[in-house]
Amino acid sequence: MLPLDQALRAALAQRAPLLATLHAQGTNCYRLFHGSQEGAGGLTVDRYGPQLLVQSFHQTLPRDALLHLASLCEEALGTPLQLVYNDRSQGNSRIDRSDPVYQAEDAALADLIGQEWGLNYRVRGRHAGQDPLLFLDLRNARGWVKAHSAGKSVLNLFAYTCGVGLAAAAGGAREVVNLDFAEGNLAVGRENGALNPELAPMQFIQSDYFPAIRQFAGLPIAQRRGHKLPPYPRLAARSFDLVFLDPPAWAKSAFGTVDLLRDYQSLLKPAILATAEDGVLICCNNLAKVALAPWREQVLRCAEKIGRPLRDCQVLAPADDFPSQDGQPPLKTLILQF
Ligand SMILES: C[S@@+](CC[C@H](N)C(=O)[O-])C[C@H]1O[C@@H](n2cnc3c(N)ncnc32)[C@H](O)[C@@H]1O
Repeated sequence: MLPLDQALRAALAQRAPLLATLHAQGTNCYRLFHGSQEGAGGLTVDRYGPQLLVQSFHQTLPRDALLHLASLCEEALGTPLQLVYNDRSQGNSRIDRSDPVYQAEDAALADLIGQEWGLNYRVRGRHAGQDPLLFLDLRNARGWVKAHSAGKSVLNLFAYTCGVGLAAAAGGAREVVNLDFAEGNLAVGRENGALNPELAPMQFIQSDYFPAIRQFAGLPIAQRRGHKLPPYPRLAARSFDLVFLDPPAWAKSAFGTVDLLRDYQSLLKPAILATAEDGVLICCNNLAKVALAPWREQVLRCAEKIGRPLRDCQVLAPADDFPSQDGQPPLKTLILQF
């Protein structure tokens, strides 16, 4: 493994042309160092607008190394940044907030704003959840949605903080529906909407994925014998011109299990059925151990099996701030045109 100083300098030099392009596009949120691929496994350095977010997943970064790293980034970008260090190397990957040495300045932990594709996004260095409020490897997908949403009805599934919904609204969608079961995540989505007051308002549905998508798709809601289902919002069957499906790797609820390794089909099938006849479904799989080729086959087979032939299937890779030595980035995205 390279010494951190050398690895970070190389990563920053490598990114210079990309960063110039991103700045010109109205983007100041990006990954500056992707440790697993650039010489320091378990370490990531991201810029979120005015904030520099350093995260460690394997071991705690010594204080001097952290401060040196921050100054190298500031120097390369030619701008001062508010440092937040989240050490997620402790049990269960929660953030270690116990050591005062690593406590950030109040100003760095304040509610800040970052930009992507000319849109404002809420940036909060620490909050109730563990992940940053915007997943940076999905930037190209949000860009695609922004460029292809004009006049469309858009359904953003597993919406999290509604970044994809915001991109659709900015692209001129006639209707944007964000769906997630976590009210706290949708609340950030509402903040994101409010930070871009020129856009048409988005809709938010707080619901478990399974009952919601099955109602949109006109499918019955399965109940396990002897298990009464919790209440869920009632929705009319309907389809959307553009559907975005980016689920977490694994999650269990009273209605079903999200499992990207063993059962992508039960997520995909109703999502396809809720996509208009000539619509577009963008689906993602962020599990590193699922390779693109077999997953793509699975997706194509599922579409064929339910009688929804595809006109086109395009692979969308993350941008170069997420380099991948083996050409197999963990986040895989397919754009399916029906
Ligand atoms: C990895 S994030 C998805 C990222 C998101 N697509 C984006 O654009 O940033 C996972 C989201 O899925 C939501 N979620 C997990 N299981 C769910 C379920 N069964 N129904 C609805 N939402 C769920 C979580 O609340 C979380 O917001």
